[in-house]
Amino acid sequence: MNRFVIPTRVYSGADCLQRLERYRDKDVWVVCDSFLAKGGAIARLLEHLDADRVSLFSDIMPDPPIATVVAGILQLQTIRPQVVIGFGGGSAIDAAKAMVFFGRKLGLTIDRFIAIPTTSGTGSEVTSASVIGDPALGIKYPLFDDAIYPDIALLDPQLVVSVPAAVTANTGMDVLTHAVEAYVSTNASDFSDALAEKAAQLVFRYLAAACSRGDCLKTREKMHNASTLAGMAFSQAGLGVNHAIAHQLGGQLHVAHGLANALLLTEVIRFNSQDARAAKKYARLARICGLATYQSEDRAALQQLLNHIGQLKRQIGIPAALGGLGLGAEKIRQVTPAMIAAALNDSTLATNPRRATAKDIGAILNAIE
Ligand SMILES: NC(=O)c1ccc[n+]([C@@H]2O[C@H](COP(=O)([O-])OP(=O)(O)OC[C@H]3O[C@@H](n4cnc5c(N)ncnc54)[C@H](O)[C@@H]3O)[C@@H](O)[C@H]2O)c1
Ligand SMILES: [Zn+2]
Repeated sequence: MNRFVIPTRVYSGADCLQRLERYRDKDVWVVCDSFLAKGGAIARLLEHLDADRVSLFSDIMPDPPIATVVAGILQLQTIRPQVVIGFGGGSAIDAAKAMVFFGRKLGLTIDRFIAIPTTSGTGSEVTSASVIGDPALGIKYPLFDDAIYPDIALLDPQLVVSVPAAVTANTGMDVLTHAVEAYVSTNASDFSDALAEKAAQLVFRYLAAACSRGDCLKTREKMHNASTLAGMAFSQAGLGVNHAIAHQLGGQLHVAHGLANALLLTEVIRFNSQDARAAKKYARLARICGLATYQSEDRAALQQLLNHIGQLKRQIGIPAALGGLGLGAEKIRQVTPAMIAAALNDSTLATNPRRATAKDIGAILNAIE
């Protein structure tokens, strides 16, 4: 039996923050990072709320650690807001999700949990996932639970215009990785495929332009929508070995999440395409995205997918290998056994189309070194 549930209500477009006006008479708690707390972005939210009833938790760091979530829950218990807003990239939204999830478990009544993404990448605003880190162990834990879905997602492309080109590139490659992994997942369905196909089409069409002309609102809107579509796809279908390894590159070596996925993507496609069903699906995705003709053989279409991903990465300035990030080979080798062990335990591995052993994961890591 296939199950398809997207409980989050999605409002999109440049006027969608108006939706916040119905919470003017409520106590609102916003979870964000210090950058967003100071700039024009928070002012855009406050225009639609009663500023005197809004309080901020602005201590979010990239790859939020357990300690930040605990600090947030303590503040949540003191403030007891009716509405919580996760405002920022995946790090802020994931932390807010964990705070609300555990806060509700502790008996707090939170009427609305709203996610407002300011990067186009994780799709966290519509997923049942929250990725929380344990810096002492160098591990990132993806929690999945239906109770984690935000109630509402607001997709305002104007919030993304200020994202620097390098972050746009990394997060955009996260979108593509979500779409591709969901598409070949063992849990993929016609429903998740439709979402993944549209997301991948939009990335191939708009990501390079979003990096080079970040002030184009139409381009930003397309990438923002692609991110949410890919989030919906993988929240239903699951991910795979790409994310299982990327979480370790983040946990152990502090490689930004989207960049870690981008470094791995072509190598993971090569590995998974040894599975006949996955190879067919990669080929189909290449044709649907216009990267290969409908007459092309599967093998040729798969090669076009690899070529276009490689070309897109070069165009948007993603380095070819981990070495390009200035991480010493010695440091990488030192943490490789721990990364392999943790990747094998990462919950995203379960839906990979091909079984990946410790040796396979080691070989993928070696290939991107
Ligand atoms: N829950 C999920 O479904 C899911 C899926 C994928 C990844 N993740 C997690 O999400 C996190 C990564 O999220 P991310 O890639 O969005 O990065 P991020 O949230 O860490 O943000 C990256 C940087 O961009 C800055 N930024 C955010 N919005 C900006 C804006 N509008 N203008 C200028 N700068 C801005 C932030 O201040 C930060 O420095 C990781 O922890 C990853 O594991 C979660
Ligand atoms: Zn991701």
